[in-house]
Amino acid sequence: MFASTVPHSRADERPDRVDATDVILTGDRPTGSLHLGHYAGSLRSRLALQGQCAQTLLIADLQALTDSAGRAKHVMQHVPEVALDYLAVGIDPAQTTIAVQSRLPALAELTVLYLNLVTVARLERNPTVKAEVELRGFERDIPAGFLCYPVSQAADITGFRATLVPVGDDQLPMIEQTNEIVRRVNRLAGSSVLPECRALLSSTPRLPGVDGRKASKSLGNAIPLSATNDEIRQLVRAMYTDPGHARASDPGRVEGNVVFAYLDAFDPDAEAVSELKVQYQRGGLGDMPLKRRLEGVLEALVTPIRTRRSELARDRAYIMDVLRAGSERAGVTTGAVLRDVRAAFGLDASHPPVREIGLDAA
Ligand code: TRP
Repeated sequence: MFASTVPHSRADERPDRVDATDVILTGDRPTGSLHLGHYAGSLRSRLALQGQCAQTLLIADLQALTDSAGRAKHVMQHVPEVALDYLAVGIDPAQTTIAVQSRLPALAELTVLYLNLVTVARLERNPTVKAEVELRGFERDIPAGFLCYPVSQAADITGFRATLVPVGDDQLPMIEQTNEIVRRVNRLAGSSVLPECRALLSSTPRLPGVDGRKASKSLGNAIPLSATNDEIRQLVRAMYTDPGHARASDPGRVEGNVVFAYLDAFDPDAEAVSELKVQYQRGGLGDMPLKRRLEGVLEALVTPIRTRRSELARDRAYIMDVLRAGSERAGVTTGAVLRDVRAAFGLDASHPPVREIGLDAA
C-alpha cells in the first residue's frame, strides 16, 4: 500500500523516486522570509515534485511559537510572507495545497493523543531538539511545547497521511520519531491506519551563510529570495573564500569556500564549475571573476522570483484566499485522519454525542 519505506536514508531529489500515490507534506516556520538556503534545501524539490503526487505545504505558525510564545505578532505577519515566497518561486495553489497550521484544530488534537505514546526521555534524546535547546540557550528552562514539538510535527505529517517529507538533514530525527508514533498508533488500532513516511533530502549540502557560518536571518548572512541585485552583489562580495588565497596566483581552497558552495548549488553549468575548481586549486584564478560569475547566476535565479513576488504582494486578498481555501481543504483531510486515530485509541464515534451526556449544559 505505501511506497517503499526507506525511512531516512535516501539523499536525492530526483522526482523518479516518487510515486503518483505518494503524499508530500512539508512545512516552514513563519519566522521570516525564506532565503536561498530554503530554496536549495527543499523548495526546489517541492517545485520539481509539484503535480506528480498530492502535496501540501504547511505554514507552521504554532510551531514557531514553541521557542518564543511572545512573538505571535511577528509570526502572524510572516504567514502571508511565506505564502508569497512559495507562490513567487512557482508553487501553484491549484496543484499544491498551502495551509496554515493554526487553522487546523485536528492537528492539535492529534498532538494531544500522540503525547500519550511518547516518553519525556525520548523527547529529550531527540538530536534536533537537543541541538536547538543548546542553540537557544534554554538550559533547564525548556518550554514544554518546545520539547514536544516533534510530536506536533508528527501530527502535521500523519494528519495528511504523508509518505514523503522534503526536509533538510537536521529534520531526520523528526521523521524517525514520527514513524515511531505511526507504528504505535497502528499497533493500537491493530491495522495500518497511518503510513510510515520517508525523508526526501536535497542533493545539495546545507548552504552556508555568506560568512561561512550557519545561514540565519538574525545574522544577516543569508540571501533572501527577494534580494535586489544590489543586495546580491553586496552579499556575494562579502562571501568568505579562502583567507590563504591572497593573490590570484596563489593556490586556493575549495572546501569551506562559500562561493563554490553557492556555485555548486545554483550554477547550471556543473562542468564549468569543476574546471574553475581545478584552476582555483592550482592557482591563477582570483576571487573576483568567481564572484562575478556567481552574481550573474544568482541574479538570473532571483530576478524572476523577486518580480513575481512584488506583483503578487499587491494583491493581498488573493494571498488570503489561497490560505483560506488551502486550509479548508486541509481541514477535511486532517479531520478524517483524526477520526481514524480517535478510533484507534478507542475513542470512536459510537460514544454518545456531547448533548446527551449533558456536558454542554450552561
Ligand atoms: N520543523 C520544520 C522547520 O523548522 C517546519 C515544519 C513544521 C515541518 N511542520 C513540519 C517540516 C512538517 C516538515 C514536516 O523548518
